[in-house]
Amino acid sequence: MEVRVFDDADALGRFAAEQVIEAIKTSPDAVIGLATGSSPLPLYAAWAELAREQSLDQSRVRGFALDEYAGIDPEHPESYHTVITKTVVEPVGLSPELVLVPAADATTEAAAEYEAAIVEAGGVDVQILGIGRNGHLGFNEPGSPLDSRTRKIELTAETITDNARFFASSADVPTHAITQGLGTIMDARKLVIVAVGEAKAAAVAAAINGPITEALPASVAQRHPNVVYVLDRAAASQL
Ligand code: GLP
Repeated sequence: MEVRVFDDADALGRFAAEQVIEAIKTSPDAVIGLATGSSPLPLYAAWAELAREQSLDQSRVRGFALDEYAGIDPEHPESYHTVITKTVVEPVGLSPELVLVPAADATTEAAAEYEAAIVEAGGVDVQILGIGRNGHLGFNEPGSPLDSRTRKIELTAETITDNARFFASSADVPTHAITQGLGTIMDARKLVIVAVGEAKAAAVAAAINGPITEALPASVAQRHPNVVYVLDRAAASQL
């Protein structure tokens, strides 16, 4: 496992974006796993800039989002369908039809189809990840089986509180979501885990140095042969 710590957001974003750019340069059909949240925003900004500077051909790059709120209208401004479109697909210049987000109906069939689509694409080359304060990856809350696959889950009260800032009130935050499983995430050939800010310091330290446990879902990444943590000083402060 590699841990990189940066003083400023630009350098952090640039380093993280380079992991993605490298995969696209290696294969124009690269498959990138996309995450929502504020953590990967410096990565997406740098990816957009580097791709422009280098006139990178990204027309065949495919993307798979980690998760989506269950029952949300995909056109809702806070659906992950909308968020991935606005924060990644448009600024980076990906082909919208090659970027999939799990279906908000969150049925067992939709989950199985999503898994099959990832396999059919050849698997994920680089999976971008944020980490929740409770150590979740995607929406794999504490207690998620370490070998779990894409499925519908119930959000914890903590996650609903954390994500209430995007909605009018916590009562408007969907109570369930569909998420790639920890097993699905671990199948990616490389994991890039981005964490920024003091609020993530405890989860980051436990994920990197603590026991591998369902209680801290990100700890499963210790078993991955190719993972890089990209942190700012505050997120690294408890290491
Ligand atoms: C949500 C997403 C996660 C993300 C987390 C942290 O719960 N489902 O994929 O990692 O938020 O978000 P942020 O980066 O804004 O702290």
